[in-house]
Amino acid sequence: MQKIVSFSKRRGFIFPSSEIYGGFGSCYDFGPLGVEMRNNIKKAWWNEMTKKQNDIVGLDASILMNPRVWEASGHLSAGFADELVECKKCHHRFRKDFIKDKCPDCGGVFTEAKKFNLMMKTSVGPVEDDVSIAYLRPETCQGIYVNFKNIMQSMRLKIPFGIAQIGKAFRNEINPKDFIFRTREFEQMEMQWFCEPQKADKFFEYWLKQRLNWYYKLGINKKNLRTYEVPKKELAHYAKRAVDIEYKFPFGWKEIEGVHNRGDWDLSNHSKYSGEDLKNEDYFPYIIETSVGADRSLFAFLTDAYQEVEGGRSGKTDTEIFLEINRSLAPVKMAVLPLVKNKPEIVKKAKEIYKLLKTEFVTLYDQTGSIGRRYRRLDEIGCLFAVTVDFDTLKDDAVTIRDRDTMKQQRIKIKELSECLRKQL
Ligand code: GAP
Repeated sequence: MQKIVSFSKRRGFIFPSSEIYGGFGSCYDFGPLGVEMRNNIKKAWWNEMTKKQNDIVGLDASILMNPRVWEASGHLSAGFADELVECKKCHHRFRKDFIKDKCPDCGGVFTEAKKFNLMMKTSVGPVEDDVSIAYLRPETCQGIYVNFKNIMQSMRLKIPFGIAQIGKAFRNEINPKDFIFRTREFEQMEMQWFCEPQKADKFFEYWLKQRLNWYYKLGINKKNLRTYEVPKKELAHYAKRAVDIEYKFPFGWKEIEGVHNRGDWDLSNHSKYSGEDLKNEDYFPYIIETSVGADRSLFAFLTDAYQEVEGGRSGKTDTEIFLEINRSLAPVKMAVLPLVKNKPEIVKKAKEIYKLLKTEFVTLYDQTGSIGRRYRRLDEIGCLFAVTVDFDTLKDDAVTIRDRDTMKQQRIKIKELSECLRKQL
């Protein structure tokens, strides 16, 4: 775990937020490589859920919503709360289900457990009074439910159909922990599938399978993924059934995605609270939800791809880090390397090629250190192709491309370079 955390910082994936001020409880910033990788994950999810599936449309609802939404959804009542205990000696607070009988920090005894609501409050407008209290959404899906009718009508959709959304969510977690696994601000990728109640079980199985396949297609090691049927007594307030997709993190098996049968909880409650009829013909559609954290899944993909190769990839050096990440998720696709940095014609040519490639692919330029050392640095971040400009380039207008996975090298004419790389991707 510590290795992943320091690697993420050293190579520009993830930094503690506001670090020069000592950080800020469980907030993280995605650096140049982190943002590329997270965007790639979101793109892969969006393509899978909207382009490759039938009858799913997109939405981008606002984070702030009418507070009545949260009454209807059950989040303002005891339903969306964790049990909190406080150590009588050091006053540290913990989630009851995360601890045993003694305080892990000082051995003190705990107070009785109290319910603690996880909604984050803010005030909207210039006057801070009760009227202007609003909440940062704790899940993105409520924006989908309140737009159910708008979308069905404007897009002339018929049940069954789905609505997909990616966006930020916020929870005042009592114990944010394990790096970006549990944070107070995070991003969700959620799809809500509206169907007839009697078909809900069948669609549940369908979506669970689809979602597992998505991880397999993106190269997650099958032995690091499993499903967990959530027991009835542990189900969230809205769920009739839930299966977690779990990943084997360095700190154990943990949920990365939930597939839920939410029954008619959401649409019937929003109908009741808003007065708007959200029935389809004479029934409330059931909802099958797939919900995954963009950050949490990034953590899983990163952990899965991270390898320390003893003896190096050539078998002749020290231990090397190799990020064997799926091609579509790799944050950097190309790197342009002038063989030497003190020959102006080579540097000039390399910079021209860099300029050409970076308009189309995420590309790095690196002229520092030996070629071997530069390849090592690129393997660390899972860069797919290294394009080397050498002395021969000045004569034959060709470059050498090294493929990350095979480590094989190929000589390619510069004018065919973009086309060739595009094909290989
Ligand atoms: N709409 C249903 C819902 O929000 P959830 O199981 O509470 O269900 C779904 O959350 C996913 O959102 C989780 O599997 C996880 O990937 C992500 N998630 C939830 N809370 C999170 C947190 N505090 N930090 C990071 N990701 C979180």
